[in-house]
Amino acid sequence: MYQANEHRYDKMQYHRVGNSGLKLPAISLGLWHNFGNVDKFSNQREIICGAFDMGITHFDLANNYGPPAGSAEENFGRILAKDLAPYRDELIISSKAGYYMWPGPYGEWGSKKNVIASCDQSLKRLGLDYVDIFYHHRPDPDTPLEETAQALDLLVRQGKALYIGISNYSAEDTVRITEIFKELKTPFIIHQPAYSMFNRWIEDGLKDALVKEKLGAIAFSPLSQGLLTNRYLNGVPEDSRANRSDSPFLSKENVDKTLEKVSALNEVAQERGQTLAEMAIAWILRDGIVTSVLVGASRLSQLEDNVKALENTNFTTEELAKIDHILIAE
Ligand SMILES: NC(=O)c1ccc[n+]([C@@H]2O[C@H](COP(=O)([O-])OP(=O)(O)OC[C@H]3O[C@@H](n4cnc5c(N)ncnc54)[C@H](OP(=O)(O)O)[C@@H]3O)[C@@H](O)[C@H]2O)c1
Repeated sequence: MYQANEHRYDKMQYHRVGNSGLKLPAISLGLWHNFGNVDKFSNQREIICGAFDMGITHFDLANNYGPPAGSAEENFGRILAKDLAPYRDELIISSKAGYYMWPGPYGEWGSKKNVIASCDQSLKRLGLDYVDIFYHHRPDPDTPLEETAQALDLLVRQGKALYIGISNYSAEDTVRITEIFKELKTPFIIHQPAYSMFNRWIEDGLKDALVKEKLGAIAFSPLSQGLLTNRYLNGVPEDSRANRSDSPFLSKENVDKTLEKVSALNEVAQERGQTLAEMAIAWILRDGIVTSVLVGASRLSQLEDNVKALENTNFTTEELAKIDHILIAE
């Protein structure tokens, strides 16, 4: 029987999501990789229960996480039922609809048909009556924003989601859908964009828009899928994501292309007394705008390293300039 660590809330920091009443841990755990049926279940359980023991109360899922798609929700549902059920009210569980899930015209994107059906399927796999946050996973170029917003709003009215989020939306579309949600009085509170030292697109308008609209932000792939860690400093380990056939978005070529910058960044991290992963996470939290950093992990020891980032999220002007210089170098 799992029993949560009684000191789980001693060290973690919790940040308010925009101007909502909800708080998220400064570091959250995502289940995109390492939690499918192809992955060892005992390791999944160790990471998830270990995360909760460190005060990580937020677990992020999506309909399509696996592989196979749907299996991460099923596995999390099993762990929830077996180990975490007594702690349900201490957890923030999110899921998403938008990417391909089933054949035919209703299995992806942002129609009301897709969003409602997908959420119902996710709740079944998770074994839950409601999720805490439900996201639209990616903007749909064909469905009117009003329709997607109304579908998300309906999920809240039906009691299937407490809060609503969007992911991968541009600054412009974020402002447009925010206006619609305001009219509907939807508890729309958070945006989930990619953000890391290697992917700074949100600094070009979205970050300002989120501050202006008083919305929260949870940054995904903050370690650039593992590149911004010491994982690849001495080659590509057999068991790493860059070597896995089920991870098409990270390759050995990515490792080769970034190695020089990663080594230079690692030196800055060492000067700060941090690992590169710790510094990469601290850097995201440096200005207080991002609510939570959404990391992935293939083993518990990585999460233990990542939460140490919170011990120092301050950067001197010189350190920031040094990092910028490395990042923009050709
Ligand atoms: N909304 C969206 O469209 C979207 C897209 C992508 C991700 N996400 C969300 O964001 C979450 C995180 O994404 P991500 O997994 O790409 O995040 P990430 O934190 O950038 O990468 C995680 C990977 O980095 C390595 N790692 C983590 N901590 C480490 C440490 N301390 N030292 C060495 N290596 C370390 C591990 O690689 P190894 O596996 O090689 O050990 C781990 O699997 C996802 O699970 C999902 O919830 C959302």
